[in-house]
Amino acid sequence: MSDVKKLYVKTYGCQMNVYDSERMVEALGGNGYTVTQTPDDADMILLNTCHIREKAAEKIYSELGRYKGLKAEKPDLKIGVAGCVAQAEGAEIVRRQPMVDLVVGPQSYHKLPAMEQAVKDGVRALDTDFPEEDKFDHLQARPKAKRGPTAFLTVQEGCDKFCAFCVVPYTRGAEVSRPADRVVAEARELVDRGVREITLLGQNVNAYHGHADGLAGLIWALSEITDLARIRFTTSHPNDMDDALIDAHATCPKLMPYLHLPVQSGSDRILKAMNRKHTRDDYFRIIDRLKSARSDILLSGDFIVGFPGETDQDFEDTLDLVRRVGYGQCYSFKYSARPGTPAAERATVPADVADERLQRLQALLSEQQKAAQVAMVGKTTSVLLEKPGRLEGQMVGKSEHLQAVHVTTSDHQIGDIVPVTITEAATNSLAAVPVKS
Ligand code: 5AD
Ligand code: SF4
Repeated sequence: MSDVKKLYVKTYGCQMNVYDSERMVEALGGNGYTVTQTPDDADMILLNTCHIREKAAEKIYSELGRYKGLKAEKPDLKIGVAGCVAQAEGAEIVRRQPMVDLVVGPQSYHKLPAMEQAVKDGVRALDTDFPEEDKFDHLQARPKAKRGPTAFLTVQEGCDKFCAFCVVPYTRGAEVSRPADRVVAEARELVDRGVREITLLGQNVNAYHGHADGLAGLIWALSEITDLARIRFTTSHPNDMDDALIDAHATCPKLMPYLHLPVQSGSDRILKAMNRKHTRDDYFRIIDRLKSARSDILLSGDFIVGFPGETDQDFEDTLDLVRRVGYGQCYSFKYSARPGTPAAERATVPADVADERLQRLQALLSEQQKAAQVAMVGKTTSVLLEKPGRLEGQMVGKSEHLQAVHVTTSDHQIGDIVPVTITEAATNSLAAVPVKS
């Protein structure tokens, strides 16, 4: 009888963690694990963690606390911590939560099967190296089973930018790009399994150098895969938005008209203190060029409020930048001091001031998001259907601009790309009917 064991994976943080979790599940599949949706019947619990803000990291310890009872009932239950908290805290995790059996950093998860075996043999396993070998070369081939129509694909990892607030250069290491031919091969496998839209992932994806012509070169190479209909990429840094990539937004029909281009602040003083190495005017110039390349491009971004030294005027400059750019969707955060980063040593803005700024910024950003949604009403676009809707005769998918769309239809299937007319807009979703042919 085969020894089937159950694996419960909980993923925190960014899309790269979603991709990594998928690959970890596949890797542990070779050790006889299949996925379960609940921790209660799991033989192994794996938390794939995020260290970007303090709250995200602390969540892991409270989640681990919740498994104490389970572990007491089931001593064979294995508990693992993967991802950026594992990388940043290493053995400290085991000190705080001795029931943790396994700690694996983002660059070492190809070693999970061996580590799981070691734990089975009674040895606690800890690996937070940045190994010489490429983990992707050591991961087993991806399974051939059919899957949903959208997928993430990591093409670049790490960051050399060293923004003063950010742990990523420490947790994910230096920038590394996967060679374009391997990325294309993995994309082909995904497409053979039913994928129609691929989002290329990297902490600094537009610094990708695994193709002689950079990320634009990779996008063009991928666009030759016949059944791949849509390509996206995230996250980008303004300083790496080169001409070829901007031009691809004008000329590559498979590249979707959406761009996540974080600026973090609209104040030159704060951008300098953040070590962003660009000004607000540099950012405006890039946005102008993108809008000239693709007039309907929907922009998204990240902002941090309450960065050390941020004055009322600096914050007003951020609001002004937001008004001038006009975003379709944005993420905004209160500054969180991260140990080991340069900004962690600096005097902080009072919490109530940062709270108030965050509220004002979020109010402006949601107004813009709502306006972008309403502007879609009456327009035609295409929707890639991802799942059935809650109502009979309805399916849900994403527009070209990455908006969630509920399409009234009984004639289509998951994976279809349907031309639609948008009929209604809400803050977080749109309603549409298929265009009559
Ligand atoms: N505090 C608050 N937000 C942060 N981010 C990164 N580091 C911090 C921090 N220390 C935000 C940035 C980044 C996004 C992924 O998280 O806006 O773009
Ligand atoms: Fe962090 Fe992004 Fe700055 Fe790199 S570019 S240090 S990942 S915020």
